[in-house]
Amino acid sequence: MTTGPNAASPHARVLADSNKVPWLGLGVWQVPDGPECVNAVRWALELGYHHIDTAQAYGNEESVGRALAESGVPREKVFVTTKFNPNGKKPDVEAERSLKRLGLDYVDLYIIHWPKGGPTWAWPGMERARELGYARSIGVSNFNVDELEKLFAVATVYPVINQVKFSVFEYRRKLLDAAEARNVALEAYSPLGTGSYLSDPTVTRVAERNGRTPAQVLLRWCVQHGLPVLAKSTHRERLAENAQIFDFVLSDADMADLDALDTTGRTDRAVESAWW
Ligand code: A2P
Repeated sequence: MTTGPNAASPHARVLADSNKVPWLGLGVWQVPDGPECVNAVRWALELGYHHIDTAQAYGNEESVGRALAESGVPREKVFVTTKFNPNGKKPDVEAERSLKRLGLDYVDLYIIHWPKGGPTWAWPGMERARELGYARSIGVSNFNVDELEKLFAVATVYPVINQVKFSVFEYRRKLLDAAEARNVALEAYSPLGTGSYLSDPTVTRVAERNGRTPAQVLLRWCVQHGLPVLAKSTHRERLAENAQIFDFVLSDADMADLDALDTTGRTDRAVESAWW
C-alpha cells in the first residue's frame, strides 16, 4: 500500500512503469482557453508546481502549451497530462493533435477520459500512442473496478493511473484497494468538491487543530492515502496556499475523522452516475 509522501518519494509517486508523477498537480478543468488558463499555469509553474493536467475535452491545451513555453521551465521538469476524448476514434491520432496544440514532443501521461463505449476498445490506440513516443505513461480515468479488470484482461501494456473523483466525501475505498492491488495509482480530481467542501465543519475543525486551511487539509488527506492530487484554482494566492501541503502531517485521529465523512459506502465505483 502506498502511503503518500515519505523519505523514499517526497515529491512524486513512482508508477508501475517507473515514471514519477508529482504528488500535487494543477488541474485546468473548467478554465477557459485564453489568458485565464495561461495565467493559472504560469503562476503554478512560478510557485513550484511540476504537474499540469489538461484534456482534449477541456479545449485549453493551447493555453497550457503557451504557458509552458513562456515559463522557461525545462520540459523534463514538468509532468504534463492530457486525456483522450472518447468521442474521437483513434487515440494515437488524437494524441498527435494534442501535442501540436500543446507545442510538445510528448506528454508524460495520456489517459482515456471516460469509458465511453466500454473499457477496452480504445486501449490498442493508447498503447500505440505510447509506442510512438507521444506519451511516456498511459492510463485511464473514471474507470470502476469491473472496467479496470476487463482492461487488464486484454492489455499488453497495463494502465498505471486511474484518475477519479476522490475526496473525503468520496473515499472510494474498494476502488482504491483494487487499484493498489494492480499497482495502478488512483489520482484524485475535485478533491475540494469544486469548492463546496471547504466549509464543512469537520474539515474546518481539523484545519484549525493543525493551524492549516480547509483546502490544505483536503489535499493533504488525498496524498496521505497515496493519491497524487489535482487542485484547480485561477487565483495566485490560492495556488500558493494549495502548494503548502508537504510541511505537515495529519494524525491518525485526523485521518479517521476525515475518512468518516465518506458518503459512498467505500464504493468500488468511479462515478455515482455516468454522464456518457
Ligand atoms: P478558483 O478557481 O476561483 O480559485 P476542485 O479542485 O475540487 O475542483 O475545486 C476547485 C474549486 O475550488 C474552484 O472553484 C476554485 O476556485 C476553488 N478553490 C481552489 N483552491 C481554493 C482555496 N485554497 N480556497 C478557496 N477556494 C479554492
